[in-house]
Order: sequence, then structure tokens, then C-alpha cells
Amino acid sequence: MNTLKQQPIGFRVEHLDRVDSTNNYLKTLALSGAPHGLTVVADSQTGGRGRFGRSFESAEGKGLYFSVLLRPEFPPSQAPLLTPWAAVAVCRAVEESTGLSPNIKWINDLLLDEKKLCGILTEADIAPDGSLRHIILGIGLNVSQREEDFSPEVASIATSLAQHLEQPPSREALLTAVLTQLNHMWETFPSAQGQYLEAYRARCSTVGQEVLVTGGGKDREGFALGINENFSLRVRFGDGTCENLDSGMVSARRNGLT
Ligand code: BTN
Repeated sequence: MNTLKQQPIGFRVEHLDRVDSTNNYLKTLALSGAPHGLTVVADSQTGGRGRFGRSFESAEGKGLYFSVLLRPEFPPSQAPLLTPWAAVAVCRAVEESTGLSPNIKWINDLLLDEKKLCGILTEADIAPDGSLRHIILGIGLNVSQREEDFSPEVASIATSLAQHLEQPPSREALLTAVLTQLNHMWETFPSAQGQYLEAYRARCSTVGQEVLVTGGGKDREGFALGINENFSLRVRFGDGTCENLDSGMVSARRNGLT
């Protein structure tokens, strides 16, 4: 599906000292015709973004903050798969580089000891005719932050590799490891769906937990039953009804945790 004529993801990496958001920066390049695989990494972000307009703290030199530009040949309907596939890819890169085994909090966060290690923000640009023009995959991985490097609000819900290792790998080494896994993901997308689904289910710690589902202007408590074939989350609510939650509509969080 994704053809050999494309350059590998990360064939060119642009390094910035500081930017508002690598996703924003890369979007501007994408709109002026930048090629598939171009990668932008920043030492710090002044406006790092997460899903639902949340911010992503990006302290200078402490984390790996980067975005890759993808120019898919598949239909827009397949784009939502990329976030969970990328979560598996980043887990594998962290596992290989550190021996640590992050869990996945549905749908886009990596956790260590129930605290956020990494977030993934996937943004698609759809043309008026409905075709997919590009996708920007933004990844923020906390590497060397100590507790005091996070704001007080974030310190209680975030962690970094350095909080679990004596010496975390360099950000450069981690970037190489993640890019290798993203290339594997891209080369096998979507034919390896079964393998990525299995790997996702094995790491997803949301399943089997009480979750607070936000969306549609109200919060509802439910219980996460499982991950469906399309990576939606099956949740049972207190009244016995079940729903398959789509990542675009809701966020699910363990009660009391982000
Ligand atoms: C989330 O927490 O919901 C996702 C966070 C994604 C953060 C990364 S850091 C690099 C890229 N640039 C951004 O502004 N966001 C992503």
C-alpha cells in the first residue's frame, strides 16, 4: 500500500532549538509541498499540544519532541488507525532502547507506573474532495525530566525515562529507535493489522479498568471491556448499555488519573 518510491520516514531530520509546536511547524512545510518522511525535532516547544486542545509540557532539552510528515495513499477512513499503531511502535522502541515496558492508555498515551511517559498527536489534512492530503504524526516522549522539571499539576501525572533508569538513552538514540519502528509500521500498514492489534491489546492497561468517559458535554462512568478490531474501546456503562468509543469523540481516563 505504501510504496517503495517513498523515502523512509526520517530520511531528512530538521532540528530546531525552539518552536511553538513541531506539528504546527511541519504543517506549514506540508502545505508548501514538503515530502513524505520529513521529520522535525525541537529542543523545546512553547506551545506543545495534545489531544482536545490540551497542552504538552516540553521543557528544554528534557524530552524528545518531534513530528513526521506522512503522505499516505490510503483513504481517510484508515487514518485513525495510525495513532494506535504508532503507540505500539513507540512502545517497541522504548522497550528495545531501555528494557522498560510501557503500557498504553487508550488511545494515544504511553504510561510507566500509571504515569504519562509519552503522548501522540495525529493530525490529518483532508482535501475538499475527501482525499487525504497529509498526516502529521507528533510524538512527545519524556526522557530526562526530574519531578521538578514538570509543573506541579503535571508532576503528579507524568513521568520520564530518567525516573525509571539510572541513565536514559540520548534523545538522538531514542529518535533513531522510534524512526526505525515507524518505518516498520509504515511498510506493513495496513496488512499487519492483526499483529499491531495483538501488540496493542497486550499493552493496553485501560481494559479492565473503571473509566470516566468525557464527551458530548457530560462525564459518564463506565468499565472498559476491550479493544475492538478497529481499536475503538468497548465500554459498559452503569445502566448496562455498551458503547464502542471512538477516539475522536471521547477521552477515557481512569478515575482519579489523567
Ligand atoms: C497528547 O498528550 O494528547 C499528545 C501529546 C503530543 C505531543 C507531541 S510533542 C511533538 C508534537 N508537537 C506537538 O505540539 N504535539 C506533539
